Amino acid sequence: MSEQVLKLVVRKRVEQGEGVVILDLADPAGQPLPAFEAGAHVDVHLAPGLVRQYSLCGDPANTTAYRLGVLKDPASRGGSVAVHERLQEGSEVAIGAPRNHFPLAADASRSILIGGGIGITPMIAMAHALAAQDSQFALHYCGRSRGRTAFLDELGEADFAACVHTHFDDEADAQKLDLPAVLGRPEAGAHVYVCGPAGFMDWVISEARKAGYAEDNIHREYFQVELDASGSGFEVVASRSGKTVQVAEGQTIVDALAGVGIKVEISCEQGVCGTCLCDVLEGEPDHRDVYLTDDEKAANDQILVCCSRAKSKKLVLDI
Ligand code: FES
Repeated sequence: MSEQVLKLVVRKRVEQGEGVVILDLADPAGQPLPAFEAGAHVDVHLAPGLVRQYSLCGDPANTTAYRLGVLKDPASRGGSVAVHERLQEGSEVAIGAPRNHFPLAADASRSILIGGGIGITPMIAMAHALAAQDSQFALHYCGRSRGRTAFLDELGEADFAACVHTHFDDEADAQKLDLPAVLGRPEAGAHVYVCGPAGFMDWVISEARKAGYAEDNIHREYFQVELDASGSGFEVVASRSGKTVQVAEGQTIVDALAGVGIKVEISCEQGVCGTCLCDVLEGEPDHRDVYLTDDEKAANDQILVCCSRAKSKKLVLDI
């Protein structure tokens, strides 16, 4: 999969909260940037072989800059640390054109946006878009403590500030997120959006299901997943070259294919971005990603080869 690459510069860099850097990326000649939809992300090319996805968290109506908010993750595999260390004001940076796997539903009568920690980033763009459409929405922002939390000033000063509700772990119980109350009884056209740490998202999703929200009305964006690489070995046939490779226990399909000279384009290596999607011609995948929907997984005709495995002894891939 090849994509349009934009060469931008860091126009503004601000550190906020604990370990969050907010970057405004702009065209070096001041030209407008390609438009983006709320919920979109960009691939940031940090070094050869080091590409990471970050949500755009600015106002989609503003095409003079793309805003990113990046938390320095101590468990980072290089991405967030590289952003913090290398991207200073004036730095050049190559990014992919915006792509959206987390769009707002066009027909929503009410939207409940719930962001945990740095998972607030796509929600800020969504709040701008919903406010511009005069749509009914609420933005709930959960953090450990006020002092560690970024974007508070910006949200407090936004036109839609009255729709923003903050919840901090170390403050009074009365302000903590009461999910059953926030979700209420799902009326037709109500949609829930969640992004944050995996445990937080699982909690919101299970409460939304419990409240009676239809699966199609619960929208999620994972930015960090714990990969499960367990499972026995299996065989992969790359149909275009006719090469067959054995995928060992604990090895990824991508690595096994690389061993016989077949290179698959990858990016997140966590089953999040969709870059390594391949068609399945034969066999049953064991899906480990968070990119495909439940229906797409059930169809078993596609697989993300950076993380998923096989339930059958053999997979034939269109690669
Ligand atoms: S590389 Fe991102 S899903 Fe496989």
